[in-house]
Amino acid sequence: MTKQTKLISALDVPELSTALQLVDRIGPSVEWYKVGKQLFTHYGPEAVHELKARGKRVFLDMKFHDIPNTVAQAIRSSALIGADLINVHASGGPAMLSAAAEAMREAGKTVIAVTVLTSMDQSQLEALGITATPAEQVVRLAGLTQSAGLPGVVCSALELPMLREKFGPDFLTVVPGIRPAGADAGDQKRIMTPAQAAQAGADFIVVGRPILAAPEPSEAAQKILEELKNA
Ligand code: C5P
Repeated sequence: MTKQTKLISALDVPELSTALQLVDRIGPSVEWYKVGKQLFTHYGPEAVHELKARGKRVFLDMKFHDIPNTVAQAIRSSALIGADLINVHASGGPAMLSAAAEAMREAGKTVIAVTVLTSMDQSQLEALGITATPAEQVVRLAGLTQSAGLPGVVCSALELPMLREKFGPDFLTVVPGIRPAGADAGDQKRIMTPAQAAQAGADFIVVGRPILAAPEPSEAAQKILEELKNA
């Protein structure tokens, strides 16, 4: 695998000031940050602007899921405020994914799709009337994503080999559920180390608590970057 897996640090904290202190403390070694629903709902575009002002790249993790026109407009708005990487739910369906792909091309940003949330298991899918296994559903939704013209997905590390095999080396994969060896798993169940995810061909890993909760976040980030480099 010649490509270098990149680290996205998830800013899952309630206060923007805390998030920015972290970013400043971590410094130039981490380029990508994830702004999710918690921070964005409270602080809005300011959260993105502050990161862009620090020269960072932003994954705006809003997981849009709505009618095609609304999702396309939300992507255009995300691009206007400076988001570099934007996501939607693949389960919004082919028409929504196509509208997202068109908005992406106009905006010149990257839009990826969430397949099956890692919190969903077989019984949760069955409750929705879906009889496929989670893995089958991931492949189906990733296929719809690719057919609609979107470049990739958010997926768990365990699905990486399967997605690589079916959708090729250029299909973009963004992988949360990462824990350095010895780190607390927390509520994440399907986990891999940064090195394992890199070896499995992840384009990006998303890491929250192992950095945020470390006594020295910049050291924790540095160790993960080293691990990715040496994988
Ligand atoms: O703290 P931790 O490293 O588990 O954070 C992972 C981040 O990735 C969180 O922001 C979480 O919301 C996000 N995420 C996830 N699983 C998904 C999609 C996003 O853990 N399927």
